[in-house]
Amino acid sequence: EKGGFRSFMDKEIHDQPHAVADTLLGRTDDKGRLVLDEIHVDEAVLRQVDKIIVVACGTAAYAGQVAKYAIEHWCRIPVEVELAHEFRYRDPIVDRRTLVVAVSQSGETMDTLMAVRHAREQGATVLAIVNTHGSTIPRESDAVLYTHAGPEVAVASTKAFLAQITAAYLLGLYLAQLRGTKFPDEIAEVLTELRAIPAKIQTVLDGADRVRQIAHWMADTSSVLFLGRHVGYPVAMEGALKLKELAYIHAEGFAAGELKHGPIALIEPGQPVFVVVPSPRGRDSLHSKVISNIQEIRARGARTLVIAEEGDEAVTPFADETFYVPQTPVLLAPLVSVVPLQLFAMELATAKGLDVDQPRNLAKSVTVE
Ligand code: F6R
Repeated sequence: EKGGFRSFMDKEIHDQPHAVADTLLGRTDDKGRLVLDEIHVDEAVLRQVDKIIVVACGTAAYAGQVAKYAIEHWCRIPVEVELAHEFRYRDPIVDRRTLVVAVSQSGETMDTLMAVRHAREQGATVLAIVNTHGSTIPRESDAVLYTHAGPEVAVASTKAFLAQITAAYLLGLYLAQLRGTKFPDEIAEVLTELRAIPAKIQTVLDGADRVRQIAHWMADTSSVLFLGRHVGYPVAMEGALKLKELAYIHAEGFAAGELKHGPIALIEPGQPVFVVVPSPRGRDSLHSKVISNIQEIRARGARTLVIAEEGDEAVTPFADETFYVPQTPVLLAPLVSVVPLQLFAMELATAKGLDVDQPRNLAKSVTVE
């Protein structure tokens, strides 16, 4: 069933072009407009939404954090992202005009389910973004937008993450279409860019050998830091989570702007740091700020492993290793930039002789609180 791959994880990482393509499939009409009738929520309700709260755990919550940047930009609706287990025990401000989006691969995560119930009791509309058909969370939600990643067997989430981000983009574009916050042409353009993503992911996967080589050199590493900014921030968090889960290595993700507010104290000679660099074609200042961050940590001896867009030569003087990924519009970039980090975690775990499909102490669905 592993289809010639070394593990389910390896297979699922390589399945990602399909996970994204299949999640996009059949959700537009012949005029290029998004058709999400499947969610069966009254359009009038969606037009009135004045706040979105994403509730999820772990990797699914990072998908929500990526979505926040896109949805706020496209729809001009405030988006909060909250860990489901924290949401439940606050006194969240939720009412009939709140759209709660529950993101879950399994559809069975108890904390997320409880957050769904909590939100509905207070009158919110709950839309689930879920991968597993027939699971509990969609049954208890007002609506569901399925991700079409296919079954995810490895305990740590990879392809479901990309599919969750893709589905959340579709939701954001749909809301923008419905509420008229983006012109139809602009929406069609993003959809065209989204359809180009699977081939770009494939390009990254084709470079997996180099990631493997570097991961093997680093098999003795005891700590790795990850920095990112804007949509690269949740990508950094996800890169750190994958490394903890799969390779049992201490890893932490930071927003690059936080560096001088504390984490830079951790930098000592030899400390490996992954940096997810925003596209130089996006906001200029963002790119140059992250480049200065790389310079700052390099000056203190960090070993810099840089994820950058093809053609971004500004990074090379300060990067010990550069992983180039294809050019992608800023808001969609996580779909490609996270892939080298997933590969890195898997390869490092493999180099340590660990079972990447069944990491210790973890379960695929967390059905207890
Ligand atoms: C990380 C991972 C977990 C899950 C989290 C939520 O690799 O797999 O962090 O993302 O437990 O699970 P679902 O998406 O099933 O609700």
